[in-house]
Amino acid sequence: METSQKTLWGGRFSTSLTTETIAFTHSIEADTRLIGYDIWGSQAHAIMLARQGIISDADLREILRWLRKAEDDFQNGDFTLDPNKEDVHMNVESYLIENAGREFGGKLHTARSRNDQVLVDAHLYIRDEILNVQHGLSELCKAFLEIAKEHADTVMPGYTHTQHAQPISLGFWATAYVSMFLRDQKRLQSAYALANMNPLGACALAGTTFSIDRELTTKLLGFDVPHEHALDVISSRDFIAEILFALSLVMANLSRISEEIVYWTTYEFGMMVLDDAYSFGSSIMPQKKNPDIAELTRGRTGRVYGALLDLLTNLKGLPMGYNRDFQEDKPPLWEAFDVVKACLGLLPELLKTADFRTERMAELANANFATATELANYLVKEHQISFRECHEIVGWLVGELVQQEKTFADWELTQDLLKQREIDVSVEQLQQILDAELAIQNNQSLGGTSPKEVRRMIDGFEVQLNEITSRIYTCQTEIDNAHQETQRIVDKVLEKSTVPTEGE
Ligand code: ARG
Repeated sequence: METSQKTLWGGRFSTSLTTETIAFTHSIEADTRLIGYDIWGSQAHAIMLARQGIISDADLREILRWLRKAEDDFQNGDFTLDPNKEDVHMNVESYLIENAGREFGGKLHTARSRNDQVLVDAHLYIRDEILNVQHGLSELCKAFLEIAKEHADTVMPGYTHTQHAQPISLGFWATAYVSMFLRDQKRLQSAYALANMNPLGACALAGTTFSIDRELTTKLLGFDVPHEHALDVISSRDFIAEILFALSLVMANLSRISEEIVYWTTYEFGMMVLDDAYSFGSSIMPQKKNPDIAELTRGRTGRVYGALLDLLTNLKGLPMGYNRDFQEDKPPLWEAFDVVKACLGLLPELLKTADFRTERMAELANANFATATELANYLVKEHQISFRECHEIVGWLVGELVQQEKTFADWELTQDLLKQREIDVSVEQLQQILDAELAIQNNQSLGGTSPKEVRRMIDGFEVQLNEITSRIYTCQTEIDNAHQETQRIVDKVLEKSTVPTEGE
């Protein structure tokens, strides 16, 4: 049994951890992403401690000096996290103690616990990542809007049960995805609000006897408000569940567009051809052109769902307070962010560069009785027959045509069959009623497929997208300003020995 050096909490222990124990318990891989956030959180905490007179100005100066150095060293590759020190928090604190000595470095952890610290790091990281995902989603929406603007009049078959239903426009189809992804944006926005609360100051679980200022750290870390109830802070991970649910739905939606890309690019559908830069060949079949990006997006969806289920399962048995199980919240969340960002990084360009085969779409939209509903609607309007009756007549007409292996486009036959049901329509009229393009022009009900409605909706979606863009910008600016303000104070403290007061 090999044992390691003593840990920071080793006071009550007589032997050190075995190497196997360390390997089993450390969280270094996941924590490496958190170093910058951990240091920012520690800077804010130390500044607050000094302002409250809990540590001296000299203590603060030494602490901030070495926190800065830790960050520089990390950026230059001179400070890497050591698994023997369990996690990012103990690595940074050890760095401080090794360099500034216990006299100074040993004071940073006053009125703080790793239990609130790990949450600070996670909240800060998640905030950034949500904004990244939101930006990616906006780019995807823009790609769909580009398609929509170009193709508000392009007919294609609309499907229900993956069977021809009614003609729609390609622009209508594209804006459906915008409408859908804008809801994802809203979910991410509400997940952001939960992430944007300050856990720092909850300490281990009960708050502290030190007179800390949670409002100050809230401000320095750019959070909206302190997350107040200390025991709830420490015990809750629903902000992570919320984001994982939002990410799961993003993936569900990305998987659905991927599915459509996969079959639209088949020979059978022939409605879409991908740019070569986004297609793959086969090692044996020279003719192949495969939609691997869409397939991998579809295929990676389960990893994000898995992350959500992983967390939900983790939470269900946990009593109030910190439980080490919580450490397992991070790797799946990191992976979920990575998967979503990677998919969003590719799909907008893949869509923008794709060739939509509009002749094929028109051919399909006019085939297979896709405009039958228009004929029924016409009969309702012009012949004062109930819709159910018209539905039956047109259904019978389609049945007859199918039996004779004909289509609506066998106009004389269509006309004759209708005559048998005492309905007199000219061939010219039939050609108009059953024309897919005219059908979509006339579907002008609110939210319908008519080009007019599609254009109106495009305008509305653009307004919403602009609002999201400016919200992302505002959030990002608030984060940057808070970080800069913290760094400004650090700079001041490092320049002189007194702590600057607010606004100085
Ligand atoms: N690595 C831990 C986590 O991710 C940090 C908090 C550890 N706290 C504790 N009391 N052991 O949750």
